[in-house]
Amino acid sequence: MSLTDNKSAGEELLLSRHSVRKYEPGVTIPEAELNEILELAASAPSSWNLQHWRFLVVTEQANKEKLLPIAYNQQQVVDASVVVIVLGDLQANEVAPKVYESATPQIRDMMLGQINGAYSNNPGLARDEAIRNGSLAAMQLMLAARAKGYDTVPMGGYNQAALIQELNIPDRYVPIMMLPIGKAQAPARATERLPLEDQVIRERF
Ligand SMILES: Cc1cc2nc3c(=O)[nH]c(=O)nc-3n(C[C@H](O)[C@H](O)[C@H](O)COP(=O)(O)O)c2cc1C
Repeated sequence: MSLTDNKSAGEELLLSRHSVRKYEPGVTIPEAELNEILELAASAPSSWNLQHWRFLVVTEQANKEKLLPIAYNQQQVVDASVVVIVLGDLQANEVAPKVYESATPQIRDMMLGQINGAYSNNPGLARDEAIRNGSLAAMQLMLAARAKGYDTVPMGGYNQAALIQELNIPDRYVPIMMLPIGKAQAPARATERLPLEDQVIRERF
């Protein structure tokens, strides 16, 4: 059976996501719909449920235009309806008291102890966690947008220092990805994947 036969709605959704680089300019995503997309993205899993992602949402045309040189003139940042900068929280352990607010004191103390222990004992963990968990939300954001009939393209091609300066991003947050969302004006370039045997290691190396 080929991938095109008898696909479930979930499979269709996954396979219909492609990196679209040409968007219809001037399309507005209603705020309520955009919020639904962001809420769906935020249902992503995260380590200790710390929800390391933050969504910096750029919708004003003038602000999108400021992103153009930062994104090395990739036009999608101007023509897409919205550009979401997915950020990772480098101090996500500080969110733990709020996340575990309604837990029993015993569970809360145990979780906070575990989380703060991990964050203070492992150099590099905060950044790994921010990027790992933020990337899950970014993927989910692309699929949520697709489910609502929009297209996206994940982007790492931007000048990080310039982005941080332009949007006044605090040190606490690391930019993970730029994600334009909008209505496709032209279909994505077709891409293929490596054969499964090149991607899968079974049991162990
Ligand atoms: C982390 C990351 C960074 C990317 N950066 C860019 C980018 O800066 N510009 C761009 O046009 N595409 C970018 N892409 C899109 C990839 O080229 C695309 O995902 C890949 O070719 C597979 O195509 P598909 O997304 O249509 O399946 C990026 C993708 C990822 C995951």
